[in-house]
Amino acid sequence: MTKHTIPYGRQAILQDDIDAVIETLQADFLTQGPKVAEFEEKFAAYIGSKYAVAVNNATSGLHIAVLALGLQEGERVITTPITFAASANCVRYAGGEVWFADIDKDTYLLSLESTRKLIESKPKGFFKGIIPVDFAGLPVNLEGFAKLAKEHDLWIVEDACHAPGGYFIDSKNKKQKCGNGNYADIGIFSFHPVKHIACGEGGMGNNQFRSYL
Ligand SMILES: Cc1ncc(COP(=O)(O)O)c(C=O)c1O
Repeated sequence: MTKHTIPYGRQAILQDDIDAVIETLQADFLTQGPKVAEFEEKFAAYIGSKYAVAVNNATSGLHIAVLALGLQEGERVITTPITFAASANCVRYAGGEVWFADIDKDTYLLSLESTRKLIESKPKGFFKGIIPVDFAGLPVNLEGFAKLAKEHDLWIVEDACHAPGGYFIDSKNKKQKCGNGNYADIGIFSFHPVKHIACGEGGMGNNQFRSYL
């Protein structure tokens, strides 16, 4: 690699990471051992959610999230056209239909206004859910989406894969960390090596069921 090459991603693996892996390799459990529970607890505490469930990657996390929310074949879900394919593919995996609302011209995030227009152009019950994405780490202000979702009886899965540690300030002047579940049903994170925390592959689903609504 020349000094001018910008890498797609580069993980930082320090000696204590290597020591932790060796310790785990020499311990009793290689899967579902105490380290997984410890990671889930610490991650939930950091994000400020009640629960966190580790999965093999965020693609699976998104897939399981829509299944857990009851998405059935042919049901429609709205997401943003500017994202990684998994934000939309999870709907297809469950046999659902993906509909794209437009992005906001300033933030490039899913536009609340465009999402509202799309929902209101169809009969009630036409859509089942919304998947906003905190793209490139820029948090979606979910408060308006949560209000919209409540009005139309929709669920929200926040794709927070790019945004552990990101936050927005809500109308009560409270800091809301991405994926904390206060304004969404489930928040999904990725630990792929190009993300903030690298596990080789890994993902996490967090929730506390829209506690602010
Ligand atoms: C926005 C977004 N959602 C979901 C994923 C899927 O993550 P994973 O690679 O952990 O399956 C990615 C990965 O690039 C992503 O960028």
